[in-house]
Amino acid sequence: MAVKKTEKIWHNGKFINWDDATIHVISHVVSYGSAVFEGIRCYNTKQGPAIFRLHEHMQRLVNSGKIYRMDLPFSTDELCAAACELVRINKTSSCYIRPIALRGYGDAGVSAMKNPIEVYLACWEWGAYLGAEGLKKGVDVCISSWARFAPNTLPAMSKASANYMNSQLIHMEATLNGYAEGIGLDTAGYISEGAGENIFVAHDGKLYTPPLSSSVLPGITRNCVLTLCREFGIPVEEQMIPREMLYIADEVFFVGTAAEITPIRSVDRIQVGIGQAGPIAQRLQEEFFALTSGSKPDRHHWLTPVGVPVSAASR
Ligand SMILES: Cc1ncc(COP(=O)(O)O)c(C=O)c1O
Repeated sequence: MAVKKTEKIWHNGKFINWDDATIHVISHVVSYGSAVFEGIRCYNTKQGPAIFRLHEHMQRLVNSGKIYRMDLPFSTDELCAAACELVRINKTSSCYIRPIALRGYGDAGVSAMKNPIEVYLACWEWGAYLGAEGLKKGVDVCISSWARFAPNTLPAMSKASANYMNSQLIHMEATLNGYAEGIGLDTAGYISEGAGENIFVAHDGKLYTPPLSSSVLPGITRNCVLTLCREFGIPVEEQMIPREMLYIADEVFFVGTAAEITPIRSVDRIQVGIGQAGPIAQRLQEEFFALTSGSKPDRHHWLTPVGVPVSAASR
């Protein structure tokens, strides 16, 4: 689905028109995938638009860059303020925010550490990533024939653009074969994560999720689920998960900014549990949406209110 453009994009501290946010084809990022990025949701809460876990996302962006020796010329706080202003200026309420930091134009060699780091923030409206029906009824997924990258090859803890070539292979294969999403195994053969989601498995009243050592992105929604499970008294183990555990699980579900909490109803055409959203996924979903909609108090301080719209004069 094509992006529904908004009016302005933030670039290195200034707002520019959406159509002017272009780069030269010889920019380093185009040949070498040298960018780090984020995906953040802004929810239209009862108290007005608010960005979910903004600081944690911007901190991960800075960390992703640090792993690649890309020092962002803006602090986490400056990036957070820019994201709020972006939503205000575009007069959006519920949207997806995409910060990107890339190695720009200059040296055309592989490392090009002197090239400028260009930072952009864009936002646009975006609905349920795996479909509204998937959120409710669950999705059919497969184990990919593509593995996630091995440790010490591409760093999985960095949300780097180049990593998403692997996600594309996993997602394209899955959708071409009629599944909603694919799950990558790590190179030892254990469950890693979906092409763009972390994964949880319920088995005998306990939840399991792969550890960071299984080549997973340290997901912010994963962290929310771990927090909510602690509060609910649901035991969770971060441990290596064999593929077959998904087939005999009571529940399996994806979590992520885009997918939010999406139940999985089958894996490789084997029905999971009752073949629909199970009680743990439903309970977590309910709490998650109560918090993101503002219908429950924000006890974790996960929402950053965007504030009042800026006047046209201050643009
Ligand atoms: C590969 C991958 N894993 C997991 C996630 C979930 O992370 P988060 O909850 O921070 O969005 C994402 C989404 O950004 C992702 O792209």
